[in-house]
Amino acid sequence: MVPLKKLHTFGFDTQAKNLVELKSKDDLVSIFHQLKGSDYYLLGEGSNSIFLEDFSGTVILNKLKGIELKESATHFYLSVASGESWHELVKHTLSIGAFGFENLALIPGTVGAAPIQNIGAYGVEVEQFISTIEYYDIEHSTFCTIEHKDCNFAYRDSIFKHALFNKVLITSVNFSIAKDQAVEQSYAPLNQLIDPTPLEIFNKVIEVRREKLPDPKILGNAGSFFKNPVVSDKILKSIENQYSTVPHFRISANSVKIPAAWLIDQLGFKGKVYSGVKCHERQPLVLVNNGNGNGEGLLMLARQIKQDVQNAFSIELENEVRLVGNSGLIVL
Ligand code: FAD
Ligand code: EPU
Repeated sequence: MVPLKKLHTFGFDTQAKNLVELKSKDDLVSIFHQLKGSDYYLLGEGSNSIFLEDFSGTVILNKLKGIELKESATHFYLSVASGESWHELVKHTLSIGAFGFENLALIPGTVGAAPIQNIGAYGVEVEQFISTIEYYDIEHSTFCTIEHKDCNFAYRDSIFKHALFNKVLITSVNFSIAKDQAVEQSYAPLNQLIDPTPLEIFNKVIEVRREKLPDPKILGNAGSFFKNPVVSDKILKSIENQYSTVPHFRISANSVKIPAAWLIDQLGFKGKVYSGVKCHERQPLVLVNNGNGNGEGLLMLARQIKQDVQNAFSIELENEVRLVGNSGLIVL
């Protein structure tokens, strides 16, 4: 058995039956051939995956490395192997004078996992910079490329969570970054900066994230546990009858996004602990491992939050985090 505690940021003390490190694309065919249809889990840095209990299959740990840079008069083109660290890539782009990634600073995880949920923060989503994605088709043992337009990117969503779910291993992500990329500062508190440079945005994002979010190295967590729900104006109105100041952001003519943190906050979950798993006091959308937490506690707390939000607001929360049980993904 292989310990998983250090391989997922929630830090539950769980194990996997086997682990293989993927260091080269050439190993893919033989790795999947040897698995012969048995259970496996593709793992980057484990910052969006929680191993709730011992996993009876093989963890494939992505260690594919390499960054290639090309440029034209108008663009930088970066081809990045999927096992590279996202935050290190953000720093690298700044160092070469390619701007735009700075709003996504300090998001943990690998480059290969970034397009899967289309990571986003402070007014930027990674899809804005993706031109194509290269992947290994597990069933057909072939290498393929998918264009941005076919990835169906949306808020915390892409084709990799649907039609290509569990079917592919992303090997590299190809980015196209305009040389005249404008700074994005529409989100608070970036909007208070006067004429900021990309480096100032980078520093501010890091400062705000350190204030708001627990550091997984100190307190195990997987970032936002649920997605922010998009609801109809009808639901918004019914909430406004009771809470006139409910925060919301318009998404379309008749739908708005409501911060899940606010919904959870209203129900008094902040600081509540279930078997060592706590709803964080500063940011209730983040569940944390108090150090002695276990998968049962996490499921109890997450299910209670989901149930109470449904009962109080008629909103069904959807988990952003992947929950891994004994033989694969668990539905909340
Ligand atoms: P993992 O957890 O290892 O994997 C995630 C999923 O992708 C799994 O289903 C896995 O099987 C699959 N997968 C991984 N690699 C591959 C691959 N190469 N090919 C195919 N499938 C693969 N997210 C945001 O969007 N915005 C934020 O601001 C943000 N802040 C966070 C803050 C903290 C403190 C933490 C802990 C997390 C945060 N996240 C945020 C979530 C997380 O950082 C992202 O989802 C990140 O992209 C996960 O990368 P990973 O390598 O750790 O993924
Ligand atoms: N709020 C409360 N009580 C609290 C905290 C927040 O009511 O204790 C309300 C406030 O109204 C606040 C709102 O929630 O304005 C939003 O909070 P915050 O700015 O912290 O952002 P979020 O919506 O909770 C989202 C992403 C984060 C991303 C930030 C910044 C999702 C699910 N989460 O969080 O992404 O970093 O915005 O853009 O979309 C992640 O995906 O793991 C993640 C951390």
